Amino acid sequence: MSFPKQISGSRCRVCGGPVSEFFDFGRQPLSDAFHEQPPADELFFRLAVGNCSWCTMVQLMEEVPRDRMFHAGYPYLSSGSAVMRDHFGKVAGRFLETELTGPNPFVVELGCNDGVMLRTIAEAGVRHLGVEPSGGVADLAAAKGVRVRKSFFEEQVATEILAQDGPADVIYAANTLCHIPYLGSILRGVDALLAPDGVFVFEDPYFSDIVERASFDQIYDEHFYLFTVRSVQSAARPYGLELVDVERLPVHGGEVRYTLARAGGRRPAPAVAELLAEEHERRLTEAETLAGFGSRVEGIRERLVTLLRELKAKGKRVAGYGATAKSATVLNYCGIGPDLIPYITDTTKAKQGTKTPGSHIPVLGPEAFRDPYPDYAVLFAWNHAAEIMEKEVGFAGVGGEWITYVPDVCVV
Ligand code: SAH
Ligand code: TYD
Ligand code: ZN
Repeated sequence: MSFPKQISGSRCRVCGGPVSEFFDFGRQPLSDAFHEQPPADELFFRLAVGNCSWCTMVQLMEEVPRDRMFHAGYPYLSSGSAVMRDHFGKVAGRFLETELTGPNPFVVELGCNDGVMLRTIAEAGVRHLGVEPSGGVADLAAAKGVRVRKSFFEEQVATEILAQDGPADVIYAANTLCHIPYLGSILRGVDALLAPDGVFVFEDPYFSDIVERASFDQIYDEHFYLFTVRSVQSAARPYGLELVDVERLPVHGGEVRYTLARAGGRRPAPAVAELLAEEHERRLTEAETLAGFGSRVEGIRERLVTLLRELKAKGKRVAGYGATAKSATVLNYCGIGPDLIPYITDTTKAKQGTKTPGSHIPVLGPEAFRDPYPDYAVLFAWNHAAEIMEKEVGFAGVGGEWITYVPDVCVV
């Protein structure tokens, strides 16, 4: 079935300017819709990406309604990676040492998921609230002692939190702000809820890293925006918020952590101007760069499909590793199904025993990877490569080879 309510995104969701499309991934399913038996009316939408000629914001051309993506059965678990658990432990530690040292501080996290960050804040006895619309993961956070409100953060929710708890010293969001098309409502909410000298800190995949690595699978339904320093700065300004710091992060294939404060409240760190200048020099959102990105993506599709067909012709056994949301874009864009990759293994219980969205490849538990090892494994969780390679040394030990496709198709 085609998508029921298609909102044509020819106007920028941030500033209302004209958006020009630069790549079309075609018909795509909801990236986290894993079903035991895919329904006959499985939802599809057109995944295409463009950039605004006024504010440069890179965004999807079509928007999927939020409750189709984020609901009680949302399967993504933030605590599924040891590296990410460590990362968020450090984030919490840093807030506790820097921004949360005043009397009775208060921190709000948007999209706290299973409580991977807030558990440390809760253990420290610091006032906090996680705002998380996906009921299943919100329950997991609550079970860790995290105080959670099961709702989508937006302006109205922000004013309710303010009335109940007072202003927030820190508002934090990781891999969540880029999921939210209604950015204006979020920023009005932040403006309402943030203490006068508070900070709004968020970290999301960095479009510059996506272009550099041709990591096109960062583009899927949930990733509505692909931020740059320039686009974030201009989105925040009308709400009286100023970009005062940026920090590049190695996680999830390259992210930036943005810090916003009330305009004039804090002196911007030199890193802001430096990264802005770098984006300008790279001509990051100019037509030529974006067209170059598109050509690389097409080349990767060609080489990946050719490789998988050759391996199949040679009778090699190929598996997928990590039923990521990202893999939906790769599999559906490349037209890869169970004929080329018969199964994908994943540690997430809720994904095991299901089929991947759109491509219908069975998802098995991690034990299936070893029993027996395949000849080749396509690493769909490439952003966790170091952690996975270390864990799966036995695979290389029996002569198994990894296939990656970021930044290009490669057998290692
Ligand atoms: N912060 C975690 C989770 C990222 S997944 C991490 O970095 O790993 C994105 C999360 O945002 C999901 O749990 C989803 O339910 C949540 N989300 C989506 N829209 C939201 C909104 N409007 N307000 C708060 N959370 C939202
Ligand atoms: P991730 O790449 O973090 O995000 P997304 O789904 O947004 O693309 O997802 C990692 C997936 O890989 C998740 O489903 C869990 C799985 N995984 C494993 O199967 N084994 C591992 O060792 C790790 C780290 C992740
Ligand atoms: Zn715009």
